[in-house]
Amino acid sequence: MRTIRIFDTTLRDGEQSPGASMNVEEKIQLARQLVKLGVDVIEAGFPIASPGDFEAVKRIAGEVQGTTIAGLARAREEDIKRAWEAVKDAPRHRIHTFHSTSDIHLKYQFRVSREEAIKRSVAMVKFARSLAGDVEFSPMDATRTELPYLIEVVLAVVEAGAGTVNIPDTVGYTSPLEFGSMIRAIKARIGDRAVISVHCHNDLGLAVANSLAAVLNGAGQVECTINGIGERAGNCSMEEVVMNLNTRKDYYKAVTNINTREIIRTSRLLTRITGIHVQPNKAIVGANAFAHESGIHQDGLLKEKMTYEIMKPEDVGLKETELILGKHSGRHAFKTRLHDLGYELTQDEVESAFSKFKHLADQKKVIFDEDIETLVTQQVSRTPEVFRLTDLNVASGMNIVPKSTVKMKIRGKTVQKTAKGDGPVDATYKAIAAMTKTKSSLLKFEVKGITGGTDALGEVVVSIEEGGRSVRGQGADTDIILAAAKAYINALNKLAARKK
Ligand code: KIV
Ligand code: ZN
Repeated sequence: MRTIRIFDTTLRDGEQSPGASMNVEEKIQLARQLVKLGVDVIEAGFPIASPGDFEAVKRIAGEVQGTTIAGLARAREEDIKRAWEAVKDAPRHRIHTFHSTSDIHLKYQFRVSREEAIKRSVAMVKFARSLAGDVEFSPMDATRTELPYLIEVVLAVVEAGAGTVNIPDTVGYTSPLEFGSMIRAIKARIGDRAVISVHCHNDLGLAVANSLAAVLNGAGQVECTINGIGERAGNCSMEEVVMNLNTRKDYYKAVTNINTREIIRTSRLLTRITGIHVQPNKAIVGANAFAHESGIHQDGLLKEKMTYEIMKPEDVGLKETELILGKHSGRHAFKTRLHDLGYELTQDEVESAFSKFKHLADQKKVIFDEDIETLVTQQVSRTPEVFRLTDLNVASGMNIVPKSTVKMKIRGKTVQKTAKGDGPVDATYKAIAAMTKTKSSLLKFEVKGITGGTDALGEVVVSIEEGGRSVRGQGADTDIILAAAKAYINALNKLAARKK
């Protein structure tokens, strides 16, 4: 069986999803989980894009071990040097450089001829190879590039030293049969001299199907993202492509290095970090992906699982929500559970998470894994706290105007404000906005219960925007008004950190 490499670009192309930006700590946390998942390459970012991107890639390269760390670079010396600076500390590193090849891009966007494009691509692959042993090249908009010219570019960059040639369907234009034969034609010309990779976008909903067609025709690497997030309609979804290969080994005759039991955890971690939820009917990771509603199906399943189940829920890491800890659980049990859940926190972080856990245990009889994951995800975001909530009092009901009194510490000074609003959340937000003197506007407000029951931890995700910068804030509490206040303040802190 062939092993297909999984190249994860959640931290680069995935982060290009509107609203998906992550801070450095969040990226490191996700990168660590991607290693546990078993991805072969993590594309950690586009180092020249911003100092923040550079820092994130550099920190991941220095701190996250067990996989190849790649940095993206346009086919320009300064980009490549910056990518090299960012990835070079990783024991295994890669420079991924790209240049458009379609006539549409060359004529209208870059105003260069085909000859110039090929010359620059070759020169930049050689330059990248003078720095790194592992270089990948992408002819951008490959699927709208004339095939003989595309093959000419591919042969030239392989000759120049690219070990992987990635064929991107940049605008999600191709379809499975067409893409399969394109990959077959390229494979026929380059043989085993380089790995063929594919990078499909989902504009027509075909990213996974196109990637699988490519695998059938000789591709050895698939580029994808967790939950399929990415530019516009997203990228090929990692969990879907992997579970297709896994479930239909008989057909694809290929395997991956992915530990599929880490899929759900990784998907949920990304959701928690970005606030972008997957639709309930999303394959593999949607809330309903393994839920059987119809009576006939349930009857069949009770008799024999194989009747209606092609994958086992536990194979993707889905398990019955575990009832684990309560208010009598001690520090040791809490620490052990954190370890089992895969968190490696510093002593200070454990202490702070433990005190939040104790506080939660006072409000909620039983604490589930999901509750702990929510507490800890917030813990590792490490956004400096310019604004801190210290007290909140609301009055609302059927015959009164909702009113909220909020007490905060702002740059160390205690302030308090009472405001009225359309509801308790509105009143609370007005009080916070007045005290923090924010000029931001609220773009999105979402509420979700983390587990079932009326004492469940409620999670609020908000997006706010100021001067073209948008940030997301999260807050969780058994009291939904408090969760809303925490989410707003978390977003304001992130905005303050960004401005700095
Ligand atoms: O979609 C695309 O073409 C890309 C390249 C940079 C690989 O993301
Ligand atoms: Zn892309």
